[in-house]
Amino acid sequence: MIRAAKFIGGFAVAATLALTALSSGAMADDKDVIDYREHIMKTLDEQTAAIGQIVSGAIPDAQIVAHVEAIALAAKQAQKSFEAKVVGGEAKPEVWSNAADFNAKMTDFVVRTEKLAKDAKTGGATVVMEEMVDALTCKGCHDVYRNKK
Ligand code: HEC
Repeated sequence: MIRAAKFIGGFAVAATLALTALSSGAMADDKDVIDYREHIMKTLDEQTAAIGQIVSGAIPDAQIVAHVEAIALAAKQAQKSFEAKVVGGEAKPEVWSNAADFNAKMTDFVVRTEKLAKDAKTGGATVVMEEMVDALTCKGCHDVYRNKK
């Protein structure tokens, strides 16, 4: 009960903060926009690392589908997170000056990771191992659009 009350209390504070932010228009400043897309990219990184552990045999494959689904979902979030034109972080200005190509790469990534998630449901870790190199197009995009620091 005490824990539940604490949780609800914490939630109320968070909700009040969120409401304040929403009613003030939730104007994200440039740093927020950059932090946000970097959080999503880190999600992709962590989930990819978890899949690496599974396909290498270090960890049982019980959650393989959930990990691939997490990547497919984060891919969609990543695409939206670059809609705001804020040059900075590790993103090259070409993300926005070549927006059509960047977006095509993002869409391709979304489509491929969705297919991977679908195939993982029937094929499990074996099919993930076979298809992940083609589906995880991280490097192909980073080589062109990311300034790795
Ligand atoms: C279509 C382009 C694109 C794809 C696909 C893509 N990324 Fe990125 N990624 C970027 C860009 C652009 C940045 C720089 C963002 C910034 O710093 O503002 C970035 C940054 C990152 C970062 C650094 C985040 C930070 O904290 O600074 C990591 C880690 C990362 N990506 C991992 C991944 C992984 C893993 C995948 C594939 C599973 C992936 N990315 C797929 C474009 C892409």
